[in-house]
Formats: sequence, structure tokens, C-alpha cells
Amino acid sequence: MRQKIVAGNWKMNLDYNEGLSIFSEIINMVNDEVTGKQSVIVCCPYTYLHSLSALAKTHPKVSVGAQNCHQEDAGAYTGEISARMIKSVGAEYVILGHSERRQHFGETNLVLSQKTNAVLSNSLKPIFCVGETLEERESGQFFDVIKSQISEGLFHLDAQQFGQVVLAYEPVWAIGTGKTATAAQAQEIHAFIRKEIATQFGQSVADETTVLYGGSCNPKNAKELFSEPDIDGGLIGGASLKSRDFVDVVKAFN
Ligand code: PGA
Repeated sequence: MRQKIVAGNWKMNLDYNEGLSIFSEIINMVNDEVTGKQSVIVCCPYTYLHSLSALAKTHPKVSVGAQNCHQEDAGAYTGEISARMIKSVGAEYVILGHSERRQHFGETNLVLSQKTNAVLSNSLKPIFCVGETLEERESGQFFDVIKSQISEGLFHLDAQQFGQVVLAYEPVWAIGTGKTATAAQAQEIHAFIRKEIATQFGQSVADETTVLYGGSCNPKNAKELFSEPDIDGGLIGGASLKSRDFVDVVKAFN
């Protein structure tokens, strides 16, 4: 059975003390209330990774991730953070290719393939995001867009490396808009993604790959989305900033 995951993406929100207290609340609620086998990941700003990773160490269900990294391990890249640095402070995951990185920071499929290599070679796991814009959905191009995001970003890997990857389908038009994809719309894309993985790496790799849905996922709609056969959890933005809401999304798998 593939792993079920609910991952929070705090983006550029919360200061250090706020982050620490919300994370402590999440850990306590997960301990008290989560009865299933689902894993919980919190992707926080770089500067909180060390503290949150230390707190998460004694909690087997909870892990910590970064939201980006540079593709090189070290060098003259003022202001950048490498996967090697993220690994060295105890984090386990790195979000790559979030649409906000693609849109505001010009990240291409090529650079994301290099970042994926950096993450994997440092024994971290990428949460690799794909998804179409509203324009691409309305013009019917969305299958092609998602296919090239996956193939150009990830299909240079071998099957064993690909086994470390978590995918996230996040339609850009649903992120932070309150406009969720319907469960049927999301399932259609998740099944398509799994079919593409099967073609590249074989059915058993595809069956083991966790594919998350992201985009205005919240405690009200999580259960319906997560009950679809190819949706293995969520990447949660806004609703991850409140411990109660986030853990309620996690509990959609209880
Ligand atoms: P949202 O963000 O839940 O606020 O829509 C999801 C994401 O960007 O990962």
C-alpha cells in the first residue's frame, strides 16, 4: 500500500515563535487524535527547519520539509540554500516546482530536474508539484502541460530514485482561491499522472507512488477528495496555518 501523506506548506507566513507554537500544537494533536497510518509533513521557512526537525525527531508520524532549494550543493550563490544544508539540519523533504516558484522565480522543468537530483543525492525526498493554469485548463491543454512537467522534471531518474519522489497535483487556479477542483476533476488528473508513471517506470512503481492533491483543500472537502482511488493525501497551504484545521485535514484519513 502506498503511503498516505498530508503535508502543510506554510509559504512565507508565520514568524519563528508563531511557527514553533503551531508546530507544537500540531504534534500534540497528532499524538492524541490521529489513529490511521497517515504521515504528516510540515514544510516551513528555512530558518525554522532546525528547530522544527529537532521537535519532530521523537514523533514518528511527523516530519519536516523545506519549500525550495538550490540545485548545487555549495558555491558562490549569495543568499541561496542547498539541499545539503537542508539535510544537515535534520529535515527530510523538499517541495520542488511549486507554481509560485515557477511563476515568480522563473523555475523551469530543466532547473527542477537539477533540483530533484540535488535533493535525491542528499538523501532527501522531493514533493514535486505539477499543475495547469486556468488558461491551460480552459484551452484543454492541461494533460500536455502536466505530462511535460512530469517527464522533463522527473523521467531522467531511474525507478529506484523515482521511488523516493512524492508528487503533488496542484491546479494553479485552485491555489489560495477557495476554488477547489472537484473530486472527479482531481481524480481524472491523478489517474493520468499514475498512467504516465506506469508507462515510464512500470505498474508496480506507479502503484507505490504517493500523489497528493493541493489547492484550497480544507477540513470540509478533504474527506471527499482523499476518498478518490488515486488521491493519496494533500498539500495544504492556507489551512495548514491553523493547527486545528490542519490536523482536521490529517484526520480525514482516520
Ligand atoms: P492553498 O495552497 O491550500 O492555500 O490553496 C496550496 C499550496 O499552494 O500548496
